[in-house]
Amino acid sequence: MKPPAVDGSAQVRRALCPGSFDPVTNGHIDIIGRAANLYDEVVVAVFVNQSKSGLFTVDERRDMLTEVTTDYPNVTIDVFEGLVVDYCRVHDIPVIVKGLRAVSDFDYELQMAQMNRGLAGVDTLFMPTNPEYSFLASSLVKEIAKWGGDVSSLVPPTVLKRLKERTGSSE
Ligand code: PNS
Repeated sequence: MKPPAVDGSAQVRRALCPGSFDPVTNGHIDIIGRAANLYDEVVVAVFVNQSKSGLFTVDERRDMLTEVTTDYPNVTIDVFEGLVVDYCRVHDIPVIVKGLRAVSDFDYELQMAQMNRGLAGVDTLFMPTNPEYSFLASSLVKEIAKWGGDVSSLVPPTVLKRLKERTGSSE
């Protein structure tokens, strides 16, 4: 059971899952779902990167995330431009949850985690991805879909539909 807060009120445990989500994959959903089981509230935030044009607009990414997280009532979706630690500060979120697929993810993720902790005291918890998704990346999904490859086991049906529409692939 959760310990009571010092003032006796219940403490809401909030976590942030930030990312590009262009588009959301089954690997992302695995991490979001597991975070939702561990925290009272999970905010999934699409971070806008002006220097990176995506296949999907930020609004489309938010809509897809909303569609695929309906099973998790404690998950909300948001869009943000700026530093992840500023988002955490404004929304009173002390923890970032990130999925780690392989050792190759670790260098960059560790650097960001240490920077975010140094900047604002925001901690990052790393969650190993389900091995089923250890190879899975949005960039690969987009490339495979673009050339008509089958990505039906890698993304939820609503994302698959939008990928087919956007890339004009029939697979
Ligand atoms: O899905 P991605 O592309 O791996 O997500 C990367 C993301 C959005 C989580 C990362 O780029 C990020 O945190 N961007 C927000 C801007 C920021 O805070 N940058 C400094 C990180 S130390």
